[in-house]
Amino acid sequence: MSELKVAVVGAGMMGADHVKRITQRIKGAQVSWIIEPDLARAQAAAIDTPGAKVAATLDEAINKGDIDAVLIASPGQFHEAGMMTTLKAGLPTLCEKPLTPDPESALRVVEAEQALGKRFIQVGFMRRYDKEYMELHDLIAAKSMGELLGLRCQHRNPSVQDSYTNSMLITDSVVHEIDIVRYLTGSVIKAIEVKHFRRNSTAPERLNEPILALLETESGILADVEMNVSVKFGYQVKTEALFENGIMEIGRTSGSTKWQNGKFGGEEHLSYTTRFNDAYDFEIQQWVNSTKLGQVHGPSVWDGYLVAAACKAGVEAMETGKRVDVKYEKALPLYK
Ligand SMILES: NC(=O)c1ccc[n+]([C@@H]2O[C@H](COP(=O)([O-])OP(=O)(O)OC[C@H]3O[C@@H](n4cnc5c(N)ncnc54)[C@H](O)[C@@H]3O)[C@@H](O)[C@H]2O)c1
Repeated sequence: MSELKVAVVGAGMMGADHVKRITQRIKGAQVSWIIEPDLARAQAAAIDTPGAKVAATLDEAINKGDIDAVLIASPGQFHEAGMMTTLKAGLPTLCEKPLTPDPESALRVVEAEQALGKRFIQVGFMRRYDKEYMELHDLIAAKSMGELLGLRCQHRNPSVQDSYTNSMLITDSVVHEIDIVRYLTGSVIKAIEVKHFRRNSTAPERLNEPILALLETESGILADVEMNVSVKFGYQVKTEALFENGIMEIGRTSGSTKWQNGKFGGEEHLSYTTRFNDAYDFEIQQWVNSTKLGQVHGPSVWDGYLVAAACKAGVEAMETGKRVDVKYEKALPLYK
């Protein structure tokens, strides 16, 4: 296969960014379709994408052909339908996080892939492709600073879209930490507790935040997550890892610092699109490379299910103020 022909589903913030990425930076792939019900958005994304066709639905594009693989970047509640369509068509798929918004629908996707007897889907937990998270993962495994004791995480957005609801603090945002804490520690999240900081009065009225989520892994690691989505100054995702013999900090704002006119400072990220740009590039390049070899690597739908189950407990914890144990089904054979 020369160029992998990718249909990108959804041309909002993330989808448009992926369209640009595949067109401008990813080797061995091109965008063959942009699937987007909002025609103006579809056309805006298509402007700099030579040869890409536009359709309102994935079925329409699949019927017309010219697709080797699908990248789903529609909102989470539409992911299940999209993946059921790509599984039926036997198309390798990268689905943005979250796999789906709840464990019941996540399990339906797991069962549908299991029924085909092999993996087709990778889930877009891109922090696993971020250089500093990968270094931390290796350091934890190597134990060269002793055992990992705990993780202190900060996840700060300048603002969120109008469609962002209160439960999305967990299902759309803390979801990243839920996956990466399990990935870093190699242990599932056993229980979650959520506390509220003093409410940010400038946050949209429907949101009660910032929050502090406390994740407990089966292996006894505590990870606290400051989740803050109206912080205005910029976008930050940082983690401090506490070891027996030292500390590792990742996600510090990089780049130069200037001292000028009695002040000093540098540039902060304003969006995940720049903070995780290299991780997205690496994730998509790896996905393209393995798809061309007929392989599927990276986070699986089972990883997506485990995260969805933990998110359900997280939302309950946030709503009740209680520590909530996470309930998991047994893994199906494909994911053991
Ligand atoms: N990995 C990350 O860091 C990251 C960052 C941001 C968003 N995301 C994820 O990406 C996905 C999209 O988020 P976003 O911020 O771009 O949302 P968005 O609202 O900006 O864009 C979503 C787009 O999908 C379109 N759409 C809706 N239903 C559709 C359907 N059935 N088929 C095709 N298109 C459809 C909408 O018209 C919209 O243009 C979400 O799952 C989100 O959680 C991931």
